[in-house]
Amino acid sequence: MKWVVANFKSNKTVPETLQWIEKVGMAVDRLRNIKIVLCPTLLSLYEAKRFIVENDYNLLLGAQNVSPYLPGAHTGEVAAKLLGKLVDLTLVGHSERRTEFGESFEMVDDKVKRLIECQITPLVCVQGTKTPIPQGVSLIAFEPVSAIGSGNPDTPENAAKVALFFKEKYKRLTGVLYGGSVNPDNAKSFLDQESLDGVLVGGASLEAEEFIKIVESLI
Ligand code: PGA
Repeated sequence: MKWVVANFKSNKTVPETLQWIEKVGMAVDRLRNIKIVLCPTLLSLYEAKRFIVENDYNLLLGAQNVSPYLPGAHTGEVAAKLLGKLVDLTLVGHSERRTEFGESFEMVDDKVKRLIECQITPLVCVQGTKTPIPQGVSLIAFEPVSAIGSGNPDTPENAAKVALFFKEKYKRLTGVLYGGSVNPDNAKSFLDQESLDGVLVGGASLEAEEFIKIVESLI
């Protein structure tokens, strides 16, 4: 089963997020064999969850970040336990967090531990074949930094090769996604690769119509 994951990054208010969910939720209702995940801002998660459950939309939810700490005196942080039943997965180690917020391997490792303790799937972003993957991780996204937000994606063939490399090296991996300038025109070429289990979409996920086209390229 393939994954299509939307990463809103630091975009969209709560009402804008709910409008997107309504449009996408109605359009993808019949596609129950695709794992479609929305990662909105933390602020939108609670309302997004309520809205998805109320309407039985075919959408999973993810957080974009989590605290490396347990709940407690950590101002500004959201612990995995608090994400609790709201999310199915959480992004960890995105290159924007590694460069803008100094997210080190140790921090990525701690975040993964906190998520696993709370039965939340970590979706670890790896920037290249040398990026280490913490113990217990089964789902990753290969996201070459030069491809992110640049309109200059990797080739589907190379992304597929990298996915195979990771699956060989880490037998525990059940999914390797590709991310970096995926759009409605190129999504199918990535999703058609057997070794790729889906796509992680940033910029092109923001417009519901564009994102629906990406999901529909799997039909
Ligand atoms: P992009 O971002 O689709 O805008 O390139 C992908 C990502 O950063 O996850």
